Amino acid sequence: MNSRPRKIVCIGAGYVGGPTMAVIAARCPDVQVTVLDLNAERIAAWNSGSLPVFEPGLPEIIRQVRGRNLHFIPQAQGLAALAEADVVFISVQTPTKTSGAGAGKASDLQFVEACAHLIAQQARGHTIVVEKSTMPVRAAERIQQILSANQTGGTFAVLSNPEFLAEGTAIRDLEHPDRVLIGGEDPAAVAALKSIYAAWVAPEKILTTGLWSAELSKLAANAFLAQRISSINSLSALCEQTGADVAEVAAVVGTDSRIGPKFLQASVGFGGSCFQKDLLSLIYLCEHHGLPEVAAYWQGVVDINEWQKHRFAAVVQQAAANRRVAVLGLAFKKDTNDFRESAALAVCRRLLQSGLEVVAYDPRVDGTRFAAELGNPSHFSVASTAAQALAGAGAVAVLTEWDEFRSIAWASAKLSPGAMVCDGRNVVDRTAVRQAGYGLRVIGSAAP
Ligand code: NAD
Ligand code: UGA
Repeated sequence: MNSRPRKIVCIGAGYVGGPTMAVIAARCPDVQVTVLDLNAERIAAWNSGSLPVFEPGLPEIIRQVRGRNLHFIPQAQGLAALAEADVVFISVQTPTKTSGAGAGKASDLQFVEACAHLIAQQARGHTIVVEKSTMPVRAAERIQQILSANQTGGTFAVLSNPEFLAEGTAIRDLEHPDRVLIGGEDPAAVAALKSIYAAWVAPEKILTTGLWSAELSKLAANAFLAQRISSINSLSALCEQTGADVAEVAAVVGTDSRIGPKFLQASVGFGGSCFQKDLLSLIYLCEHHGLPEVAAYWQGVVDINEWQKHRFAAVVQQAAANRRVAVLGLAFKKDTNDFRESAALAVCRRLLQSGLEVVAYDPRVDGTRFAAELGNPSHFSVASTAAQALAGAGAVAVLTEWDEFRSIAWASAKLSPGAMVCDGRNVVDRTAVRQAGYGLRVIGSAAP
């Protein structure tokens, strides 16, 4: 198939499937794009005015393409689209396994495997099956096996096309990617997938590799990014001991063009659904292939991140001195409603376990869902404004770098006298906090 595919299906209407297919539909008006999901509630939300994913710029694109050449359909009703598809993207979750061989480290491929079974049963003619989900290296072998063992007449080519978007900037990342990566051994299939991205991505930014290199490159890219954060976070602790300021150190280090300035922001620890699980997947692969030294190297990145979250929670716990804690920010980063693996989950758990009362505020996260994730503890509640969370608090923990936390009116914040503001993101206005008479601890700074 050398012309551009006309019918695309994506299985999985999540943070990746929804925005990615919206951008493909917008940039390729001649292509019909159908997104399927087992979760009918999620599909209904994609078809409503209240999208399940908060991303700047996403509602505008959805308004433009939904019903034109982008369709969100519950999976059971979308089997005809699957039968007719030229290309099927698999964009379902690949979380860390919780049981069986590799539990706690290896990626759980059950959702991907279920997709492969469904495609094998439903597809007709020749179908290009694309791994969009992040996979362990050589996972495509398993997909190929399932397709050939269960096919009912169709033929298949399997490609790896991992996604590099970051939440909060998903639309910008999709529209102006650093690169698009296509791994595969079938030139016609690679050319067909390339022709979709070529509608808006410059040819030199569309990289092609072998399947295994593409799968491993995705894990490697996330590991390198996470490693930078753990590197700067490890030094944030040394800064606090020595009087150096981590923001100054990062700015200096980042001016070296070989190092670059990005991803050197010290924090309370990286969160999100991917960095930790992809590092663990890489670690498992190294162990599986008899490389314990390599596994230990990457394990250090995970360990520093855990340590950083607990180190910061201990600072807040001590600052609270049995008074109420205001937590500002539940999302794992700004500009998203996603709190999967967020530092806020780890910090809140520790504060609640130590018996402290926590009142939290986040501009986008659904507080009810967050509380449910914590097990609905009685001494956890959610405020609808930052001011409400702050009133009467003995300690404040700033855990997400939302822009509004940069301009909090500390003078009128009504914290309890002698309260301590603990900034895990280096975003608060230090002068305003001091002038309001409150104590201040900033990650990576000895005397803020
Ligand atoms: P998600 O949990 O938001 O979405 C996955 C969706 O797949 C869910 O809605 C779920 O109901 C659906 N699903 C699961 N099994 C299904 C099945 N058998 N049939 C139909 N639907 C099914 O996940 P996500 O954040 O979009 O991540 C998807 C993949 O992309 C993961 O492998 C992740 O590592 C990778 N990734 C994520 C990001 C990100 O920023 N979130 C970025 C790059 C890559
Ligand atoms: C990350 C990668 O950036 C994407 O390229 C990748 O596609 C994605 O993972 C994935 O595979 O899921 P994401 O997790 O959405 O994207 O967001 P990031 O901007 O990478 O932030 C991750 C975490 O690191 C956040 O908690 C963020 O606050 C933290 N971080 C980031 C820092 O603590 N310091 C920094 O300098 C940068």
